[in-house]
Amino acid sequence: MSRAAGQSQAHESARAQVAGAAIYVDDIPEIRGTLHAAPILSTVAHGRLLGIDTAAALALPGVRGVVLASDIPGDPLLASFGHDEPIFASDTVQHVGQVLGLVVADSVMQARRAARRVTCQIEPLPALLDVREALKARSFVLPPVFVRRGDAERALTQAPHKLTGSLDVGGQEHFYLEGQVAYAVPQEQNQWLVYSSTQHPGEVQHWVAHALGLDQHAVRVECRRMGGGFGGKETQAGHLAVWSALAARKFRCPVKLRLDRDDDFMVTGKRHPFAYDYTVGFDDTGRLQGLKLTMAVNCGFSADLSGPVADRAVFHADNAYFLEDVEIASYRCKTNLQSHTAFRGFGGPQGMIVIETIMGDIARTLGLDPLAVRRRNLYGLAERNVTHYQMTVEDNILEPLLAQLARTSDYTQRRARIAAWNRQSPVIRRGIAITPVKFGISFTATLFNQAGALVHVYTDGSVQVNHGGTEMGQGLHTKVAQIVADELGLPLAQVLATASDTGKIPNASATAASAGTDLNARAAQYAARHVRDNLAQFVAGLDGCGAGAVQFAAGAKGGEVTTPKGTRLFTDVVKLAYANRIQLWSDGFYRTPKIHYDKTTLTGRPFYYFAYGAACTEVAIDTLTGESRVLKVDILHDVGTSINPAIDIGQIEGGFVQGMGWLTTEQLVWTDRGALATHAPSTYKIPATGDIPDHFKVELWPEPNREDNVFGSKAVGEPPFMLAISVYEALRDAVGAGRQGLVRLEAPATAEHMLRALNEKNPTNA
Ligand code: MTE
Ligand code: HPA
Ligand code: MOS
Repeated sequence: MSRAAGQSQAHESARAQVAGAAIYVDDIPEIRGTLHAAPILSTVAHGRLLGIDTAAALALPGVRGVVLASDIPGDPLLASFGHDEPIFASDTVQHVGQVLGLVVADSVMQARRAARRVTCQIEPLPALLDVREALKARSFVLPPVFVRRGDAERALTQAPHKLTGSLDVGGQEHFYLEGQVAYAVPQEQNQWLVYSSTQHPGEVQHWVAHALGLDQHAVRVECRRMGGGFGGKETQAGHLAVWSALAARKFRCPVKLRLDRDDDFMVTGKRHPFAYDYTVGFDDTGRLQGLKLTMAVNCGFSADLSGPVADRAVFHADNAYFLEDVEIASYRCKTNLQSHTAFRGFGGPQGMIVIETIMGDIARTLGLDPLAVRRRNLYGLAERNVTHYQMTVEDNILEPLLAQLARTSDYTQRRARIAAWNRQSPVIRRGIAITPVKFGISFTATLFNQAGALVHVYTDGSVQVNHGGTEMGQGLHTKVAQIVADELGLPLAQVLATASDTGKIPNASATAASAGTDLNARAAQYAARHVRDNLAQFVAGLDGCGAGAVQFAAGAKGGEVTTPKGTRLFTDVVKLAYANRIQLWSDGFYRTPKIHYDKTTLTGRPFYYFAYGAACTEVAIDTLTGESRVLKVDILHDVGTSINPAIDIGQIEGGFVQGMGWLTTEQLVWTDRGALATHAPSTYKIPATGDIPDHFKVELWPEPNREDNVFGSKAVGEPPFMLAISVYEALRDAVGAGRQGLVRLEAPATAEHMLRALNEKNPTNA
């Protein structure tokens, strides 16, 4: 018996993608009469919009007209969670790059050229560009949240050692290879079809209907695949869909809007930059005794997903460590910048990096091995296994996982060799670090933890599966098809996953929070099970046995259905069942069990389980130039029982490298006028092939998920991103070599920031 799941099956689109035959929104053949739109952008960070002069643009060849706020038939605000974002800025502008309207023309280039000829009269107002300034001014998009446990004040007073510090961590541009794009096609009787590169077709449907003043049933949204989303298309794909639909409504023809890469940088939000202040106490062994932490979250001009992102940062401020007496304040600051949004890890990375920084600094202060300090603080048995948000950690595997990684990466010996190297090498220095990850799986917005699917069996025995999730390269459709194939006992090739479509699965959640497979593969498994049950019942009747005695398994000739009386081909059973009017398709629905929490105090069980991992990273730095390289990476990561090891290892490698980019080279620089200066690959540097370490080893932890999850697997999309904190810690290890006390390194660790850290001699601490 061969099984589809548990094997390294090729991604369902791999061959088509390599051949250039996989269709993205911009590849869809254009309907005759399609027009193209380009956005008109604010050039001022904050101001009163007094007028828009479109005459020069309208005079250009091919230009059909403009779309402005006055052309919106429905609510002028987007139907976003905070309901605080205008579709087009009308009386005030709130960041450089905010969209004021569109130019619509016969071709893309005509529209883009014309959009640059539109001039706006804007009376500048004072702009808040710095998150610490915003905090001082109490400028918030949402109210602050405080989480407390124990008595941090008293613990700090009694602690033998104390450190006070601050840290600034930069944001990150998603840099999906396929930029934001939508194609709105009017249908008959005021119905709409929108092709959108989106992680959340249901939300795009909701927003478009809301803006057009229609019922949701009149809008259908389809997404076959994205060329990457990384969180950047969780909400912000919706803006493009709304804009293109408004243009299509005004000009009564299909309109496509594909942002130029520079405009994509200027318009859309990024990973939230964070600023932290903390005081931490600890004993002689490095064990924590009290932590007070303030997080200032740079949300940009509107709420978007900042609430749940900032919540997840609070939930992950412990990373893997028991915080007994703790006080966390989370401020969701409003600045005159792009509205920052979901990005792989969703606040988790920003939560974890502070506590990992603290661990490194405690070790340096006490002259201990940082890995020993980390292990000293891990969640443990009964009295040390409850998080600061009152969730019991029941599935902790970090102690054995760290022990195994330390052994296989030869950490202790290498650490000694690196110390010896550093004593005789004044210019090139090395550093090494192991950091763990414990990442909570489930949407922090509990209601999103539900999913639906449809499984259709056709009369030739071939199967289509459709579910509420979206494919962005992560292999979700492949995994879902693997699970369905096994449920029906079929070869994988017999199961086809089709485009995400709001007309098939309604009210689907975003494909996000790494939960795509957990939710949708389970829903699809249930749908397949219903069909299988129908077939089993039918065959049991034929052979006079119980339905439970009917087996479905892939054999040499394809799917086989076996009873105590004999074996039939699946295709034959299907034909016979159809002739006997048996239902050959079904739906399936899944909701994650056990989760609940109180949104105001952030206490309860927000996560179904945790995904774990650890990475050992070795770096070299040049102390004269501040340049650095990642030399060696060893990862041990927990995906439960892998549905597809090749895809999971790809996710681990990709996540790690993306995290490495966030912490090393990817720097967002805004000018003092609030304009993003790094708005193209010429100045914004993501990791390139040459940055991949020569030694890059990934191993999977060999244990099923202890919670009942599909196939015994664990979610893998985001957790490995945070393994890259080991790069940052290895860099700080290299900077701090041969000196005592703190190493203050701003993230990303660009050459400039590295030099600043290297030149700062033994920073004092209060
Ligand atoms: N992998 C690829 N290739 N492309 C992506 O856009 N997004 C990441 C991760 N891996 C992404 C990716 C993010 S942010 C999430 S939340 C998950 O995939 C979403 O998919 P999943 O829930 O099916 O893992
Ligand atoms: N992750 C990603 N997206 C989300 C979440 C989350 O935890 N909660 C709400 N949207
Ligand atoms: Mo991922 S940031 O949850 O889309």
